[in-house]
Amino acid sequence: MPKVTFLVNGASFDAPVGTRFLDLCERNDAPHDFGCTVGSCGTCCLTLEQGAANVDPASSDELETVEMRTSVKGARLGCQLVIRGDIAVKPVD
Ligand code: FES
Repeated sequence: MPKVTFLVNGASFDAPVGTRFLDLCERNDAPHDFGCTVGSCGTCCLTLEQGAANVDPASSDELETVEMRTSVKGARLGCQLVIRGDIAVKPVD
């Protein structure tokens, strides 16, 4: 089962393949902030420090929101991630 690691505090949780990152965080009170939860505010922006290929690719709408929020290369929106394998995440400042 994929493991999701939060580099901000080292916490990690198991998630069945296909779990939404948002659902995992809500279920486990994980250390990641969300706002709108629908991909428009950018609050949940993060980088995948490991396992960038282990989530579904970003939609054009997601990329548009990310670009408004940060110039960090490879940044993603936590509320739009679907987990396919092990990942390690860090919030974008
Ligand atoms: S919570 Fe608003 S874009 Fe993810």
